[in-house]
Amino acid sequence: MPIERVLSCIQPTGEIHFGNYFGAIHNWVQLQQQYDCFFGIVNYHAITMPYKPDQLSKDTTNMIFDLLACGISLDRSHLFIQSLIPEHTELSWILSCYCSYGELQRMTQFKDKSESDKLQEKGTIVSAGLFTYPILQAADILMYHPAYVPVGKDQEQHLELARNIAQRFNHKHGTYFTDPNPLFTDVPKLLSLADPAKKMSKSLGDNHVIRVFEEEASIRKKVKVAVTDTGTQTSTTMSAGVSNLFEILKACEETEVYSTLFKNYQDGNLKYSVLKEEVANALVSKANYFIKRRKEIRDDHNTWLKKVQESSEQTRAVAQSTLTKVKELVGLI
Ligand code: TRP
Repeated sequence: MPIERVLSCIQPTGEIHFGNYFGAIHNWVQLQQQYDCFFGIVNYHAITMPYKPDQLSKDTTNMIFDLLACGISLDRSHLFIQSLIPEHTELSWILSCYCSYGELQRMTQFKDKSESDKLQEKGTIVSAGLFTYPILQAADILMYHPAYVPVGKDQEQHLELARNIAQRFNHKHGTYFTDPNPLFTDVPKLLSLADPAKKMSKSLGDNHVIRVFEEEASIRKKVKVAVTDTGTQTSTTMSAGVSNLFEILKACEETEVYSTLFKNYQDGNLKYSVLKEEVANALVSKANYFIKRRKEIRDDHNTWLKKVQESSEQTRAVAQSTLTKVKELVGLI
């Protein structure tokens, strides 16, 4: 049986943090062992919200280094930059004629983003690009006929739309696109250390996240001041903050420390300072490894950038063959 394909993409939005890493990237790294993987850095999506051109190009190159440092391998996967494959935008146009206005209106991410503070500022607009964003995402997906698309719950609706578009297209032209299945792996969802009522997310501010390339002193400081008990929970339930710290230990595969401290918790003699110390140790040891890897890659950046360019070119050949077929089916000469 041929190896099945997996596709997923990430926006180039600054440094990867441990929430992204354990929630997605770590899973990608593991999927490489088993599947023919396509991973894209989607910079066309990044211009649907306010951005700075200089920063965008820096973030795109940095995302390449970060993914490689985290374990994405060019020998095992196709890693590509979306803007190097113009077929994505061309397919997106065609697919936009297979998607209804009403479907796009129902996208909750569009509603959230269009009402976000960032777009309330003077001089900003809710762009048509933000509205049609899910069609470009459908093009990213359908282009490569993947069997599986690993996504978080927040992207479920977009993937569902891609499946509907594929179905509508196949119904008119005969089955051509594969039905891409979501791949929901049971991944840890890390919470903000500063506010464990919220998900670890960069948009909350730097004190809410721990970056995978963060310096030791800074990691220790953030973990030290992590919110534990808020005094609102009953003594029989673990607070969100404490459970998040345990979750981090588990994600870092510190199973022995985890079991010992968990038993202490159950016996009622867990010291939060000890738990925090262990969490900080676990994160620092991971971060130090990633920092070392990234430095090696950056020291040889021309070689790596060339390799990713080549990988994008190989990926483009796949995209070109899809687009040729699609245009033929649609009757575009
Ligand atoms: N919208 C996705 C996100 O913000 C990024 C994305 C773009 C994507 N194209 C994709 C994810 C294709 C999976 C497949 O996370």
